[in-house]
Amino acid sequence: MVAGIACGKPLPGFVWGVSTSSYQIEGAVTEDGRRPSIWDVYCRQTGRIVNGDTGDVACDHYHRYREDVSLMHKLGVGAYRFSVAWPRVMPSGQGEANERGVEFYDRLIDTLLAANIEPWLCLYHWDLPQALGDRGGWTNRDCAAWFADYATLIGSRFGDRVKRFATFNEPSIFTLFGYCLGGQAPGISDLGSLLRAIHHVNLGHGAAIDRLRASVTGASLGAIHNCQPCRPATADPADSTAAKKLDAYWNGAFPDPQLRGVYPSLLADLIAPYQHPDDAAKICRSVDWFGLNHYSPVYVRAGDANPLGIAFGDAPPDVPRSDMGWPIEPTAFAQTLSDIHKRYNLPIYVLENGTASHDKIGTTGLVTDQPRIDYLRAYVGAMLEAIENGADVRGYFVWSLLDNFEWGSGYSQRFGLVYVDYPTQRRIPKTSFHWYAGLIEPTSKRTAAVVLNRTSN
Ligand code: FCB
Repeated sequence: MVAGIACGKPLPGFVWGVSTSSYQIEGAVTEDGRRPSIWDVYCRQTGRIVNGDTGDVACDHYHRYREDVSLMHKLGVGAYRFSVAWPRVMPSGQGEANERGVEFYDRLIDTLLAANIEPWLCLYHWDLPQALGDRGGWTNRDCAAWFADYATLIGSRFGDRVKRFATFNEPSIFTLFGYCLGGQAPGISDLGSLLRAIHHVNLGHGAAIDRLRASVTGASLGAIHNCQPCRPATADPADSTAAKKLDAYWNGAFPDPQLRGVYPSLLADLIAPYQHPDDAAKICRSVDWFGLNHYSPVYVRAGDANPLGIAFGDAPPDVPRSDMGWPIEPTAFAQTLSDIHKRYNLPIYVLENGTASHDKIGTTGLVTDQPRIDYLRAYVGAMLEAIENGADVRGYFVWSLLDNFEWGSGYSQRFGLVYVDYPTQRRIPKTSFHWYAGLIEPTSKRTAAVVLNRTSN
């Protein structure tokens, strides 16, 4: 082996997995009693999504979940992170459960367990029931209590078989883009709405943790944060100020109050008007791990197109980029892992990492996605270096199992290890699927080291 890197530490029990989310893969948006989410409504607004795409059919996972679990089994993953669609199991967001919706997740969970794949269930990956959106959604303080009741339903129905639960996926992203910067549902752009949403999501997190602890024996709980260094795009001091501001919202607004009991200093006074006396204690509940999603650093400029006064700039010209334009900087991933380890002192699970590329079916019928293999190899290598340097990382999940509905980009960006031919819904494992299967196979047999060879496929 040439220029390989080895993680000298044993990684017993290290979890290798893949992640997806409900709206991005399920489809079947009007079936078996599901009612609209804020994303169903947002997708129908002119100009919101590339090509006017929607999640109406997506990967048709609602009907094809058995095939998808069997793909995961072939891949050899030990865990699968998915989300439950709140509007499928509680169509109005409150009140009675929709039994047909609950039964879908029963079938999915049972199929995973039969394949020896551990289910990791995320309660909220952005698809808020529209009925709650109509009442202000996360800008309404009551939304925290609605979410807590939903958490009780999830814990009591699935907690006999599922032990790993995350409250929210990337609260900083859906609040920033959904309530201020634009580009995500519900499409609001207002600083006060953003601040209220941040605080109410934090309250919802704390309340849901309490409900899951009460309803699930042996629960292992956390939240999933997107942490990406926010760097000034130029040497202009205004860009540095903008980068610091974005860092507070993007990287601090959720993990700090949830795990340290305080908002970042740049936010504390702004949130104060919405804060009741005992809120900090309600938000800061004991959790078992830190869920990290990471893709790339963010380059920031000052700008005036939104109430935050920030804009997105370009990475330095020598930094490589993915087909989606995201910078590829694995050293920033290693640094982020070490920083989070030091700041929050919790076991870390990387619950999303991956890249988009313009994959195509070749003449031989194969989908060759060398850029994804290169990206994953570099990022897994960076993670192993961070582990060597002391970061307590316990698992790594690729985003994503399947090509899927990539929010504002619709189906124009492909993140999957498995290619989805949307007109036929045929699944074709890409070369990266086989690469990942080869990477994780030795550790699933609990050998002492993971070795990556950076020079070969
Ligand atoms: C993350 C989201 C996930 C997916 C990836 C590419 O921010 O959590 O749903 O869209 O980005």
